[in-house]
Amino acid sequence: MAVIIDGKKISKEIKDEVREKVFALKEKGVNVTLAVIQVGNDPASTVYVGNKKKACEYTGIRSLAYEIPEETTEEELLKLVNSLNEREDVDGILVQLPLPSHISEDKVIQAISPGKDVDGFHLQSVGALSIGQPGFVSCTPAGIIELLKRYNIQIDGKECVVIGRSNIVGKPVSMLLLRENGTVTTCHSHTTDLKEVTRRADILIVAIGKAKFITADYIKEGAVIIDVGMDRDENGKLCGDVDFDSVMEKAGAVTPVPGGVGPMTIAMLMNNCVYSVERKLQEQ
Ligand code: GUN
Repeated sequence: MAVIIDGKKISKEIKDEVREKVFALKEKGVNVTLAVIQVGNDPASTVYVGNKKKACEYTGIRSLAYEIPEETTEEELLKLVNSLNEREDVDGILVQLPLPSHISEDKVIQAISPGKDVDGFHLQSVGALSIGQPGFVSCTPAGIIELLKRYNIQIDGKECVVIGRSNIVGKPVSMLLLRENGTVTTCHSHTTDLKEVTRRADILIVAIGKAKFITADYIKEGAVIIDVGMDRDENGKLCGDVDFDSVMEKAGAVTPVPGGVGPMTIAMLMNNCVYSVERKLQEQ
């Protein structure tokens, strides 16, 4: 039977550590502030943004919420981002994605000051990650590595297979695993024999957005399975990309959905906000 990796528990540990740092900074007269922008009323985004605000409250991070209408123009949004870039009292800026189709996500992300890019999506953050320099790492990939480390799962020398090559998860998590000395293979929709590759994995990261796609015959006995999916099953119930019941008998460890990677994303966002302040203080 696989060990169930408890993301909820580990994310609480991280948030408690962040909280201590936030309060230590407060004693020195330094506040940590995150600005969150949501354009429109996408229901999933509203839930995510709500969870981010709650985590800010828990950790003592001040959150500034900008809930602006769907009709906001790209120019108006860029103006708001620029005004937040210039504010000394704002340490992190997060623009919730997706944006309405009349706004270029890329333009908006690149407009965020690299020093406040707590999502780690800016070219400068991605570039730093790819050449092994310090910088903001996007939250879900950082959360995955943290889960593995806190469960004492060795990455060094292991066969790591990532399914999915998105800019938000697949590519950065592949780079992070490489940085930890894993042997990394990134699979995607053009991979010819997916099963042949995934069966080699000691650590399998699944981020494809297909409900319960990965079953026991895709995995090696004892493999560690990290499920990044947030899907709905045939009954509309939240599930992951991995068929949890199917892999349970064969895997060594597995993350559940919900309660696995999801809570880690928010904990790492809080961590990035503190990192932003620490970086600024070091430069002074
Ligand atoms: N939408 C879904 N996930 C994310 C995320 O991690 N950051 C932002 N900004 N938007 C998202």
